[in-house]
Parts: sequence; structure tokens; C-alpha cells
Amino acid sequence: MMEHATVVVSGTKIAQEISSNRSEVWRLIHQLRGLGVDVAGHPATGYQLRSVPDLLLPEVLRPLLRGTIFDEHLHHFYKIGSTNTAAMAAAAEGAPEGSVFLAEEQTAGRGRGANSWQSQRSTGIYCSVVLRPALPPSEVLALSLAAGLAVRAAIEQVDSRVTADLKWPNDLLIDGKKVCGILAEMNAEATRVRYIVVGIGINVNQTSFPKELGATSLRLVTGSEWSRVELVAALLKSLDREYRQLCEDPEAKEEILRRFAESSSWVQGKAVRIEENGSAFEGTTEGLDQRGFLRVRTAKGTKTVLSGTVREK
Ligand code: BTN
Repeated sequence: MMEHATVVVSGTKIAQEISSNRSEVWRLIHQLRGLGVDVAGHPATGYQLRSVPDLLLPEVLRPLLRGTIFDEHLHHFYKIGSTNTAAMAAAAEGAPEGSVFLAEEQTAGRGRGANSWQSQRSTGIYCSVVLRPALPPSEVLALSLAAGLAVRAAIEQVDSRVTADLKWPNDLLIDGKKVCGILAEMNAEATRVRYIVVGIGINVNQTSFPKELGATSLRLVTGSEWSRVELVAALLKSLDREYRQLCEDPEAKEEILRRFAESSSWVQGKAVRIEENGSAFEGTTEGLDQRGFLRVRTAKGTKTVLSGTVREK
């Protein structure tokens, strides 16, 4: 039906194409409708896609991702607990580098720390990728900062009017509200990373958020609907570029830290409150150290933030 979008296709023809029968086609059409795909018609008249659905299907994305590490092992779920959990489990079972897990809806989307991630059906992008870099664990922070840069570039590529601010370590904000969060999880030995899962949640077409979340979506910012397919393709291409550079070019890490600092209003001279390991302190940000950790000048000297939450003071 995607190949003959908005044209009426007979049940017999669809049945032939999928080597099945018309009653199986009828059952599948029912299932698609239940998942929110807008299909008109019935067995007597044939079926018609009313609009091409903006679903993150492997068949749609694969051709757009040719030449990247992400074009071969694309997994799509209509509903899943968490794409990060699925990707971590698959990686533990040997899923290859470049495996991508995409969901239309997450029922247990996870954020950093104990936070959850709101993941309503087909409004946002919920994407996790498996990477197996030959890097020591100490270099992984640079990779997660690079993922933030990749999301920022992808958003700008789709609509050059939209520039997001990067909040260390990897939130993207527009007008001070969160539009994207990244959860990087890894399995490593002391000197060697076995695998990393980079999970990216982008608020795309949501039309409202509870005020206390302090979140926004690309649609709320621009006033128009975004193609999730276009954005996820731009994102994975941009992530592919960042990742290859980091793995191949010895200067890339320094360059990532420089670009991150340049793209963030939080890295230098921002009055912040840091919440880390159950305690908190206040100060002014003073750049990134050479590994990518945030430096904060406080009344008691400069501190390095390793994993805390950064808030504006
Ligand atoms: C955060 O800002 O706290 C990180 C949010 C990360 C959310 C994404 S959505 C896709 C992937 N699967 C998850 O369960 N979480 C990440």
C-alpha cells in the first residue's frame, strides 16, 4: 500500500503480494487500523491509504540510510517497554554494531537517573542504537556529547530556523524547555568498552505537555507538523558521521568538546545548581575539562561534575 499510496488496491492484489488470502488481508487491515494507520475501504472495494503514515518502518528508512552503519539491522516496534532495555538485551546477546531499535510507543520509557520518559504513540522519536567502539570507557562521555551534537544538527537540517541549546551532558533545549534527552548506557571492562547503547528521545509532534515537565516539542516551537521519518533519517546520518570521526580521527574528541561548548549556553559563565549523589552545590560554569566533564567554580574552589543534574540558579 505504501508503494501505491492513496490509490485503491484490491484485496486480491495485496493477498497475492504477501502470498496469502483475502481474509488474512482483512485481518491485517483491522490490525493496522487498530495501530492508528488510516486505511479506507473494505474487502469488496479494495483498500486505500488515506495518507502515507509517518511510521519509522525499516523498509522506509533503509534506503535513506545507505552507506551508514545503521542501514542493516533496523528493528521497529509499534509498542515496547523501552528501546534502550531492548537494545541492551540484544547487545548482550551479540547484536551487531549499528543495530537500531525504534518504537512508535514506549510503555516504560526510561530517562537518566530514576526519571521516566513520556513516549506516546507516534508523536515522538524513541530510538536506541548499539555501538561497539574500540574506545576506553573514559572516552564514552565524548560519544554521548557527540550524540547531542548529532541531534542538534539533524533538527537544523530539517528546519534551519530551529537551533537547540545543549545542556550538559546531553539535553537539548529550545526556549529553555526540553525537546530531547539522551540516555547512554554501557557494558564495559575497566579498559575496554564491550558495547554502548545510545538512546535518544525527541519530542516531535506533541501538542501539549504538563507544565511541570518543562518540555516542548518541535511542533509546538514551529507551529507545524514534522516528518519523523525525515528527522530520524537525518539524525542517524548525523550520528554516523560523528561516530566515525570519533573512532577514526585522534583529534576528534577535542573537536567535539570545542563544538559542544560553542553550541551550549550552559558550559561557560552560567550560574547553576548541581545536584549530585543526594547533595547539591551552586556555582558558575567554567568550561569542560579535557575528558568532557563540566567544571563549576564555587566559593570553595573549582569542582568537576561527573554525573549530576545541572539546573539554572
Ligand atoms: C533523559 O533526558 O533523561 C534521557 C531520556 C532518554 C529517552 C530515550 S527514548 C528512547 C530510549 N529508550 C528509553 O527508554 N530511553 C531512551
